[in-house]
Amino acid sequence: MRIENLSAVEHLGSVRIHDVRRLLELDSGSSRSAVVGAGQAQIIEHEAIEAIEKKMAIVIPVKDEELKVFEGVLSGIPHNCQIIVVSNSQRSGIDYFKSELDILERFCQSTGRRAIIVHQRDPFLARAVECSGYSELLDDDGYIRSGKSEGMLVGLLLCAMLEKEYVGFIDADNFVPGAVWEYVKHYAIGFVLAQSPLSMVRILWHYKPKMIGELYFKKWGRVSEVTNRYMNHFISTKGRFETGVVKTSNAGEHAMSLNLAMRLPYATGYAVETQELISVLEQFGGAVPVADNLVTQNGVDIIQTETINPHLHEERNDNEHLFQGMLVPSLAVIYHSQLCEDSTRKLILNQLVESECIAQDQEVPHVHLLPPPQKADIKLFAEALETQFGDIALPGGWLLGEKPSRYKQPGNAQKVLFSDIDGTILHPQSYTYAPALQGIRNLQERRIPLVLCSAKTLAEQEALRRELDIKDPFIVESGGAIYIPKDYFRFPFSFNKTQDEYQVIELGAPFAEIKQRLQLVAQSCSVPFSTFGNMDVDELAQRTGLTLQQARLARERCYSETLIVDEQINGRLMKSLQDAMMKEGLHSVFGGRFFEVGLGSDKGKAVKILCELFKLNFNSISTFAIGNGLNDVSMLQVCDHPMLVQEIDKRWTKVKVKDLVRIKDVGPQGFSRAVEEEIIKFEAVAGINT
Ligand code: GDP
Ligand code: CO
Repeated sequence: MRIENLSAVEHLGSVRIHDVRRLLELDSGSSRSAVVGAGQAQIIEHEAIEAIEKKMAIVIPVKDEELKVFEGVLSGIPHNCQIIVVSNSQRSGIDYFKSELDILERFCQSTGRRAIIVHQRDPFLARAVECSGYSELLDDDGYIRSGKSEGMLVGLLLCAMLEKEYVGFIDADNFVPGAVWEYVKHYAIGFVLAQSPLSMVRILWHYKPKMIGELYFKKWGRVSEVTNRYMNHFISTKGRFETGVVKTSNAGEHAMSLNLAMRLPYATGYAVETQELISVLEQFGGAVPVADNLVTQNGVDIIQTETINPHLHEERNDNEHLFQGMLVPSLAVIYHSQLCEDSTRKLILNQLVESECIAQDQEVPHVHLLPPPQKADIKLFAEALETQFGDIALPGGWLLGEKPSRYKQPGNAQKVLFSDIDGTILHPQSYTYAPALQGIRNLQERRIPLVLCSAKTLAEQEALRRELDIKDPFIVESGGAIYIPKDYFRFPFSFNKTQDEYQVIELGAPFAEIKQRLQLVAQSCSVPFSTFGNMDVDELAQRTGLTLQQARLARERCYSETLIVDEQINGRLMKSLQDAMMKEGLHSVFGGRFFEVGLGSDKGKAVKILCELFKLNFNSISTFAIGNGLNDVSMLQVCDHPMLVQEIDKRWTKVKVKDLVRIKDVGPQGFSRAVEEEIIKFEAVAGINT
């Protein structure tokens, strides 16, 4: 991009106010072909702009804007910028916030971007702000105060949490996505031009009054013009020359380095942008000695640029009343600055009386100020929010994309438990799960996902999940398929089909194929066996001890088959049966009483896939697995903390798993003990360490 060359600079103490520079070309060609005009213009390389954008977050304050316009604004934000939407839109009746959330989510999914959206009145957000020690943002009712500047400050805290170097603000009522795009480019250009890590970029809109009609820009145009006049008078009294350098007193479109942004006090209401300038001048303009090394060594740069695109935004009402409502606070912050000289004060007072904003004998009203956000402890803020990240959803909104990983210590990793069912959650003999309830409750209280991973079918597991109120994904038929409740993960992933309320990842070959191969096994091998599929429900119930209903569910197989062999059968014959199956490409595991037979799937593979999804969702996870038998080995092998419960004879199945912890209890008792002693205890220790 090409911008006008160096302009006049006013120095005030450590502050350098750069006069407005016009953007000349949106696209200046490639660096080699570009001809640099003799001192007329400066080319800002694309790479330099991109480098800044990667370190910049764009905060979009929004309140009940037209959704199409909001969507357009999103599409104008350059890809490399982190988007942060702070919404104060209505939630009751028509839920505008929900729509914004949907739009943002779809936008992120289709563009592969990351964004954060929060609702300004979210109770958890308020609590996090409170934890950070920045309670000035809170209202008497305990929520964050309404208002655009309060929304901006929430955005600022989120930027700091994400460790961004720059923050830019873009209103959500911008009609022209191309203008939005240009603003952000200006921000980046400004930061390329700035010499100090403390810098601010303010944008002067390029008006096209003829095209837009006169009324359109009257309001802000007039407020800006008047505010600029007194701002410049204010500055002139500090030096020996008159100046007209400030042309962006009310620039809603502006950006700052976090270094600067965190150091400034902010006004509430319409005065926020004017106060930013006043805050900079008060602190660093030379009136008070500056102790801050960063400032004394580098100064502060205020860059002003003028855009090419016109600024078209929503004007709700355009009456004189609003003009006054905006002018008063803008001038009030100049008037009440302790640096404001009497001569300027007198002029402002005259102006306000003349414009019929205040009466002759009336005081200039005060504007409420918020202390510099550097007061907030960002680590505490992040930690308080973090507890909500675990829920995937914030009650007041969603946090999309990656959470800040820096605050995730290993001890804080989201735990996920994978568990076998038969012989683990269900007692190996009585099939009761009662002793496991304590453990399940413990997990649910801590919101630790419990992923059932078993040879059981969808129908069987659904029944159990209902009874135990488990809502997490689950793995059926020994890894044959993964069932993930819709909306469980907040990002897109690939799956094979949707079925009822699930998204299904299929890993195993279809049942028909397995059945066909088992017939071949039966022909080639002399060992007799029967399968669940071949037995009727009565027989199955009798041979397994399942109830009729349970037996019915057990027969609904899609990706695997279960064999029952005669209990008297010796080891050698068993081996020959297994070999015969292997020859047909089938793999089988002996699960205590039965052979689980599958084709192309195993528990471990399914667990690994789910681990990846959980990791995407929680960023950092710590995986636990509980099983009892040989068919759990592949699951145990791929988890961080594998555990084995005892069989009915109080012994552990002989398995080879690295770092295996053997739990001293049978099945469901062992399950609860494992949760208590290995998962929760682990948590307590981690809590002390961090
Ligand atoms: P103007 O465009 O400067 O006249 O002011 P607007 O009233 O249009 O507001 C500017 C931006 O701030 C728009 O994107 C609004 O949707 C947004 N906004 C207004 N009030 C609030 C609020 O209370 N909270 C938040 N987060 N945003 C707000
Ligand atoms: Co507007």
